[in-house]
Amino acid sequence: MEEAKAEGKLKSIGVSNMTPKIWNTFVPQFATMPSVNQVEFNPFFQQKELRRILDKHDVKLEAWYPLGHGDKSLIENDVVLSLAKKYHKDAGQIILKFELQEGAIVLPKSQNPARIKSNLELFDFELSEEDMAQLRALDRGKGAHEPDAPSVAEMLLSAYKIED
Ligand SMILES: NC(=O)c1ccc[n+]([C@@H]2O[C@H](COP(=O)([O-])OP(=O)(O)OC[C@H]3O[C@@H](n4cnc5c(N)ncnc54)[C@H](OP(=O)(O)O)[C@@H]3O)[C@@H](O)[C@H]2O)c1
Repeated sequence: MEEAKAEGKLKSIGVSNMTPKIWNTFVPQFATMPSVNQVEFNPFFQQKELRRILDKHDVKLEAWYPLGHGDKSLIENDVVLSLAKKYHKDAGQIILKFELQEGAIVLPKSQNPARIKSNLELFDFELSEEDMAQLRALDRGKGAHEPDAPSVAEMLLSAYKIED
């Protein structure tokens, strides 16, 4: 990727699923600081340790599972629903707006045309600092996937042909 960038074939390099451990193991060897790290991120898993590292290097966090992959316990969470009522928005919009205000790039997916539209209608309101704090308090510090698990490294190594 660095060679392709040097040749002008791409502008920026992004990485994915780099936990603090993976970041600290590999990124110091890179000649180019990644522009973005796409990781699981939503109110239940706020990646606080990783974000401190990314912020230090001005690297953007891009959220996958921004809606918890449709997890009802997130979408129907009491705090989320009460804020949806307060701001006259739906639960998805409250969750995505929280993530945007936290500085993340969000990547929600929907096959439902109405939700594809509503998931974009995020720029006509602002969550107050007090309401942001309520959503920050939902953090469980753990996501659905664990990229540091040894089985993940084995799976990736067996899936790709790696040459020097
Ligand atoms: N880099 C990685 O390792 C990685 C891993 C996982 C995912 N991703 C990427 O991240 C993106 C998002 O992942 P994802 O689709 O699994 O998770 P997601 O965007 O958090 O959730 C999508 C689910 O939420 C539902 N949904 C969408 N908008 C909604 C709303 N406003 N209210 C209620 N439910 C809503 C969708 O159902 P409907 O279709 O019925 O609306 C779908 O079931 C995808 O592009 C995926 O490829 C990357």
